Amino acid sequence: MPAKQFPKAFSRSEKGFSIAVIGSQYGDEGKGKVVDLLAEKADLVVRFGGGNNAGHTVVVKGKKYKFHLMPSGAIQGKKCCIAAGVALDPRVLKQELEQLTEFKFALVIDPRVQIIMPWHNLLDATSEQAKGKQKIGTTGRGIGPCYADRADRTGIRFVELIERERLKERLEAVFPIKEKILKAVYNSGMEISKEQIFKEYSALGEYFKQYLGDVSLLVSDSLKQGKNVMFEGAQGTFLDIDFGTYPYVTSSHPTAGSIFTGVGIGVMPIERVIGIVKAYTTRVGSGPFVAELEGKLGDSIREAGAEFGTTTGRPRRVGWLDLVLLRTSQRLNGFTEMALTKLDVLNGLDEISVCTEYELGGKRINERPADIEDLKNCRPLFKKFKGFSIPKDVKAYSELPEEARQYVEFIEKELNVPIKIVSVGPDRKETLFR
Ligand code: IMP
Repeated sequence: MPAKQFPKAFSRSEKGFSIAVIGSQYGDEGKGKVVDLLAEKADLVVRFGGGNNAGHTVVVKGKKYKFHLMPSGAIQGKKCCIAAGVALDPRVLKQELEQLTEFKFALVIDPRVQIIMPWHNLLDATSEQAKGKQKIGTTGRGIGPCYADRADRTGIRFVELIERERLKERLEAVFPIKEKILKAVYNSGMEISKEQIFKEYSALGEYFKQYLGDVSLLVSDSLKQGKNVMFEGAQGTFLDIDFGTYPYVTSSHPTAGSIFTGVGIGVMPIERVIGIVKAYTTRVGSGPFVAELEGKLGDSIREAGAEFGTTTGRPRRVGWLDLVLLRTSQRLNGFTEMALTKLDVLNGLDEISVCTEYELGGKRINERPADIEDLKNCRPLFKKFKGFSIPKDVKAYSELPEEARQYVEFIEKELNVPIKIVSVGPDRKETLFR
């Protein structure tokens, strides 16, 4: 008897490839540059989560481009997709599109995408204020309230934004509730009338109509057809709503697993899951930061690395590289490789420290504790490295000073993941492949 034929678990074609670019720390690792570099070979670049709380700066031939929502592949003229897991502020995306007119790219927005409405921004600001000392330090872009509405099933989706009558109906239902909450809970107001919102947002809907497309279907089909798909992460692993430093996190999942739920594709192997690792650590907003550096040294790294938020301009908190954090990040994401960014920012320091373990209650640990109260009590244990200065015109990894190579190789050995890309400056050409 012939063997029973079972359906293939992974109905992927062998021809194409998929790449995920994931922030391994607290965001701002330099994902934009890596996506931009690798997007050259991609057919599709897909954003699968987060919103305009993210900010990428890409430098091409000395010119800076700032994105919050557009996948970075826009500059390369790629097909850019905004998948269901994204929280989309149409005011912001319209502005971005208007700045990108010189590039010929395609844009597809999934009908299921949640729309950030004016009350989300107001609720973000008022609830942060009400939290007092326990405030999260959000970007104020309405992300939390928008995702909360998704879970509450009071959100407005992209498909409703672009259909006048449906938008009207949804506004009639949701606006009065939000107005009451703002007034009763936060003693605040809506600042904008329902009629004004309808006028502005129905016009935005009209503008965006042309971009509607089922991203879940498009990506699934593209993968089957052997196309090259890149999944562009936003934020970083420790801002993940479950596995980050809750409650000091964002409201989505920046981790690799959410590619499948955020896009709406079956679980399948992704050939390259690239963890973007900044050569030191930064974080914006509140929350524990074990290897944080305060004082002059922290200030000088902040200045050298231009560590001020792309979205809010806030100074970022700075710390040494933390291998405990990265080990957990590797476990959560399953990186197949890493890209080490901003190594040049450490230039000129006499000594560089790397946190290799934490001490908690007299014990040494090398994975992040799950409880934030434990994390607050962790003390970093450091290994010291000799400083280095990377020459401006370095063209190959082998040309890096020996001390810089020792630093890189120590990290990959400790994490047991190869570092395939080393970035030594913001420009595309300041990239060393291994
Ligand atoms: P929210 O995402 O605006 O709600 O902010 C929640 C936390 O995530 C705050 O600490 C923000 O500073 C942080 N955050 C959100 N997006 C980013 C990002 O793209 N880079 C770095 N931090 C971010």
